[in-house]
Amino acid sequence: MEFKSNVIINNKYKIVSEIGKGASAVVYLGYDLLNNKNVALKIQNQKDEFSNMDKRFKLEANTLLNLNHQNIVDTYDYFTWNNRRVIVMEYLDGKTLEKYIREKQYLSSKEVATFAIEILEGLDHVHQNGIMHRDLKPANITITVDNKLKLMDFGIIQTSINQELTRQASIIGTIQYLAPEIFKGEKSSPPSEMFSIGVLLYRMSTGVLPFKGISHEDTAKKILNDDPLPPTNINKMLDLELEKIILKLLQKDYYNRYQTARETINALKDYLINREQYKINQSTKFLQDRQVIENNNQTLSKSKQKIKKKKAKEIKLINYLLFFIVIFLILALIMIPIFI
Ligand SMILES: Nc1ncnc2c1ncn2[C@@H]1O[C@H](COP(=O)(O)OP(=O)(O)O)[C@@H](O)[C@H]1O
Ligand SMILES: [Mg+2]
Repeated sequence: MEFKSNVIINNKYKIVSEIGKGASAVVYLGYDLLNNKNVALKIQNQKDEFSNMDKRFKLEANTLLNLNHQNIVDTYDYFTWNNRRVIVMEYLDGKTLEKYIREKQYLSSKEVATFAIEILEGLDHVHQNGIMHRDLKPANITITVDNKLKLMDFGIIQTSINQELTRQASIIGTIQYLAPEIFKGEKSSPPSEMFSIGVLLYRMSTGVLPFKGISHEDTAKKILNDDPLPPTNINKMLDLELEKIILKLLQKDYYNRYQTARETINALKDYLINREQYKINQSTKFLQDRQVIENNNQTLSKSKQKIKKKKAKEIKLINYLLFFIVIFLILALIMIPIFI
């Protein structure tokens, strides 16, 4: 921890403890002394090796101040302190999606779809505000203790492709979520963010990445050229309908993907509705089958009863017949000596 606890910054925020380290900054749990509440303080790293980092930080803060959505971390304040930029955010009590995936290995189809819808709702708000997230990955999404997903850490600075790749590959160390067109020099766009969402969904569904090389270069090659292994090959429990959505998001040509977050949300919602309908159909079929079996059982026991009754009648008749034969024989035995 670079800053001691109890240090007060900007006359207002007390540092409590370190809660996270990213590429550009250290995040601390802080306490807002004026408003008496916990906050998260994202404090810029001391030495900036990259000149664009400062600009990135500033842009991130400015953009975040204007965003207001339940699936995006709330930004309260932004200032410079001791030549470091500081962002004050709502403190998110929970764990990153990265940690959650590592713990669970992979999520159920329903959980993947419901999580994805929340992430995409936040992302749709970002896109509606004319900006791209540019750094979508599970480490930048928090699952709060009350089970809400929140997008954090917007890499919004409009850098050139080389800078973008340097930033992603060297600083953040994650290029596995980038769309193929980014490697060809195109700027981030809603369809390129949809590719990142595809990688995210693949990871949530299988626990592994669709494109993973032994080096950044190798990974980039795979993203550009290779078809991903169908996720159901890894997780047999994954619904085929969800697999279709994931594979559509991972199309190399961005025209073949869902074009917007909203379009993807609609596809996921349709999938969830159909899934419920399928389940209802299955249980209705089960109930119908059970009714048929019960009816059959009833008919069977009725015909068994009929047979029983018939048999009882027959036995009664045989008994009567035997009785008359015996009487007849006795009478015959009595009568024979009389006639003789
Ligand atoms: N608002 C917050 N509340 C709680 N923890 C946070 C918050 N923001 C970030 N963190 C933690 O700090 C880590 C790094 O933050 P992030 O914004 O991703 O920094 P970087 O830009 O350096 O990657 C996150 O992975 C998370 O664990
Ligand atoms: Mg981060």
